[in-house]
Amino acid sequence: MSDLKRLGKEQASEPLPQEPPQVSASWVLIMSSLFIGLVAFGALQLTNGQSKAGALPPQAVFVDPRSFAVVGQNGTFRESSFASFFNPTNTSPPFFQVFDRSFLDILGSSASIHEIASNPSFAFAHESPIYDSRTDEVFFASNDGGPLGMSDIDNNNQLGKISLKEVEASLKKNTASINATVTNIPLPEEAQMTNGGTGLYRSSLLLINSGRGPLPPSLTLVNPRAPHNATVLVDNFFGRQFNSLNDVKVHPSGKIFFTDVTYGFLNHFRPPPLMPNHVYRFDPDTGAVRVVADGFDRCNGIAFTHDGKTAYISDTGAAGGFLGLNQTEPATIYGFDVDPKTHAFKNRRVFAYVDAGVPDGLQVDLKGNVYSGTGDGVQVWNSEGTLLGKFFLGTTSANMVFAGKGRLVILAETKVFLAKIAAVGQDLNFP
Ligand SMILES: *[C@@H]1O[C@H](CO)[C@@H](O)[C@H](O)[C@H]1NC(C)=O
Ligand SMILES: *[C@@H]1O[C@H](CO)[C@@H](O)[C@H](O)[C@H]1NC(C)=O
Ligand SMILES: *[C@@H]1O[C@H](CO)[C@@H](O)[C@H](O)[C@H]1NC(C)=O
Ligand SMILES: *[C@@H]1O[C@H](CO)[C@@H](O)[C@H](O)[C@H]1NC(C)=O
Repeated sequence: MSDLKRLGKEQASEPLPQEPPQVSASWVLIMSSLFIGLVAFGALQLTNGQSKAGALPPQAVFVDPRSFAVVGQNGTFRESSFASFFNPTNTSPPFFQVFDRSFLDILGSSASIHEIASNPSFAFAHESPIYDSRTDEVFFASNDGGPLGMSDIDNNNQLGKISLKEVEASLKKNTASINATVTNIPLPEEAQMTNGGTGLYRSSLLLINSGRGPLPPSLTLVNPRAPHNATVLVDNFFGRQFNSLNDVKVHPSGKIFFTDVTYGFLNHFRPPPLMPNHVYRFDPDTGAVRVVADGFDRCNGIAFTHDGKTAYISDTGAAGGFLGLNQTEPATIYGFDVDPKTHAFKNRRVFAYVDAGVPDGLQVDLKGNVYSGTGDGVQVWNSEGTLLGKFFLGTTSANMVFAGKGRLVILAETKVFLAKIAAVGQDLNFP
């Protein structure tokens, strides 16, 4: 069987949700014909001279970059990275879009991806994904101030959780229509408009909150168990409020790093910003807070490599809240060296510019591959910044989290997906 046939067969073998991809019809048409003509070339590359010929898992599609390097004078080019996505095979999401063979090492031969929860009228799964291995649960916050978030200057957003035990039991019965129970967790008053999180940190959820109206943005520990009591770690910079804190990670040194950006103002629930958009370091032992990086348009997601030597910050400048979308502003992930002594972020460089929407939340696996939520799902680069492939959802993912070995839980606003893959994430649990 040729790999071309195999591709077709494997795509067809898995029942996929009948959801139209959000891609302009003409783009699909032109790219589909281009693909049919040129996929044979890609398939040839898979069979010839490479080790794992045809080892595509089900739900995976190989798209050789050479097959779309030329669109041609009469071709249709994409005009918007927000309105039309790159899906030349017109495959129904969710699926794995493979651009580089080494993505297959990340996926493994029996990779799968399934929707595991949904609520079409509520963006319940936006950000702050945190895995609690003690209970096999994933926590997340609803969209704060954005579409379908049901939160605004007068109403706080919500924290929820799902049980992966329940999901695994459902997956054994039927992979087609899983809708896990979302348990609402009352956010304590100290956490206003939660937009990021990591942990567990000292057995608590480490939440970063954007603030609401005059209520200050804060970094807050929340007990994952009832009564969900909270302890605020920091809520100011020498007496000044942050703009609207966005995302957080713990460095191997134990210091806590977070981003501050103007989205609270741009989404109508915070006053005008009074400081530049920064990345901060907070020392939980001394209480000291300092700036480690500036010069961003809108800094957003944050992650470190396992060794703590490299930091990644996404800049979502192209998405401007009430200012609208502007594709000439950054949709870019920057890499930095982390100074071993001062933890200042040095040697800023472009790591990746994304082709769909903006890069939001970030995670780095144990091999240094970088995962980012983007306009069309989760995209993955190796440590050199080569785009290896996508967990293509055809819709926005703001963040994702490894939930134990080989499981990636992907938040997609009104939906949650579970991907079972070979890659192993960092253990973000900080005792
Ligand atoms: C592009 O379209 C024009 C008009 O239909 C045609 O004459 C020309 O050969 C086409 N060019 C290519 C490269 O297909
Ligand atoms: C899944 O369950 C939630 C909560 O009961 C419900 O609101 C939602 O509509 C369900 N999703 C689907 C696709 O039926
Ligand atoms: C919650 O309360 C318990 C009991 O007082 C305390 O041990 C724990 O540290 C508190 N957790 C947070 C996050 O404040
Ligand atoms: C988009 O951003 C660029 C660069 O900041 C700016 O020059 C341009 O005016 C913006 N366009 C719109 C329509 O806001």
